[in-house]
Amino acid sequence: MKDCIETQPLRGMRDFLPKDWIFRKKLMQVWSETAEQNGFVRYETPIVESLSLLERKAGEEISDQIYNFEDKSGRAIALRPEITPSMVRIVSGNREAFPSTGKVYSIGQCFRYERASLGRKREHFQWNIDIVGEDSVICEAYLIQTAVLAMKRLGFEKGEFRVRVNNRVLVADFLNTLQITGENALAVMGVMDKKEKVPAEVFTEMLKEIGINEAQIERINAFMLSKDLQTIETFVPADCQGLKDLKQFWDYCQALDLTDYVDIDTAIVRGLAYYTGIVFECFDTKGKFRAIFGGGRYNHLFERLTGKACSAVGLGFGDVVVEELYKDKFGIPEKAEGVDVALGGFGDQAHATLLKLVAGLDETTYTLDYDFKSSAPGKFLGRADKRGAKVAVYIGENELNQGVVMVKNLTNKEQVFVPVSDVVAIVRQFLG
Ligand code: HAM
Repeated sequence: MKDCIETQPLRGMRDFLPKDWIFRKKLMQVWSETAEQNGFVRYETPIVESLSLLERKAGEEISDQIYNFEDKSGRAIALRPEITPSMVRIVSGNREAFPSTGKVYSIGQCFRYERASLGRKREHFQWNIDIVGEDSVICEAYLIQTAVLAMKRLGFEKGEFRVRVNNRVLVADFLNTLQITGENALAVMGVMDKKEKVPAEVFTEMLKEIGINEAQIERINAFMLSKDLQTIETFVPADCQGLKDLKQFWDYCQALDLTDYVDIDTAIVRGLAYYTGIVFECFDTKGKFRAIFGGGRYNHLFERLTGKACSAVGLGFGDVVVEELYKDKFGIPEKAEGVDVALGGFGDQAHATLLKLVAGLDETTYTLDYDFKSSAPGKFLGRADKRGAKVAVYIGENELNQGVVMVKNLTNKEQVFVPVSDVVAIVRQFLG
């Protein structure tokens, strides 16, 4: 048929069906409640920003993935691929509106033009928690503690996910021992971030392409296998600040009882070039999915964007991977969330009485679904059952003639006929 719409969303974009909201409601609630419990205050910024805020020098995947366009006035505009630059904008423009402890959070949709795969879409929702204006690595541990708490509240347990932590200062100090410095070191870190995503030969080839020799590659490979502070120590100079910070961070993790959730891992480098210190990513331990969340310290982004120096550290936690993980563990809901009470009837007079009952039931906290059709009891009860109602309230011709209302417990099939004035009490009794 000509001119008919395509009912599927664009490639890589998602529709959310009513059944999808069972998990999403929980996720959004866990994200906001966990952030607020740990003292983060909420901000929101628009999905559309000026391109100049979001784009950075080439070399970062994220910059090549920006959805950008010109608006009707010829301005260069983009859909945000991440929230961090917008957070820098809103916080630096409204300092007095944010608490001085610097903890901020946001939940919003981001867009990246990337190849859609398991756990990667062209849009996703991201929970961002950031701490602005604090230098202590307590912040890194505190952020990880907050994200781990959210994972636990979603139903995930120790051993099912791990946060892998490294320090880019340490990586830079290590590369320095190989005479790899400046822009070259940044390029090597970009490749190091790809190590686990490409075959070993490709990794070697990528390093060679940026001028790294065989002996250096061998050292890089050995360094990236280091998973404990003692081994790492052998790769860097004795006064390495990055290692000192990592040790300090580990002490704070011990204090927060996080060591069952956190690993020191030199293979984590992160793809975003703005990170300046500790970086981390969380993965499922079965290794089935991409990163659940990731973040780190970025002490120069404020200065680069606003001209005013300010340290910051934060993380982004997407909805896509965690949903896959949740489905993997708890299964997929087959239908939308049910309601407590379904109401239906036959004929105008029945509906007039039912609407009075709606007014009464609205004073309770029960969820209601009113069936606007006039139906025989069998059909109404079938629809109520399909809707997942626990109790059905019905007035048909017989009930009208006898001045009663049918109230049926759809869980145990118990059914009573009571005067209108008793309906709310019976519903309460059935719902326990
Ligand atoms: P990121 O690692 O690019 O960091 O993204 C953070 C998280 O967002 C990922 O771990 C993943 O859960 C989710 N995510 C990213 N891209 C996609 C995608 N295409 N499809 C599905 N999920 C995705 C950042 O964005 C940093 N701005 C985070 C941050 C905040 N750093 C400091 N503060």
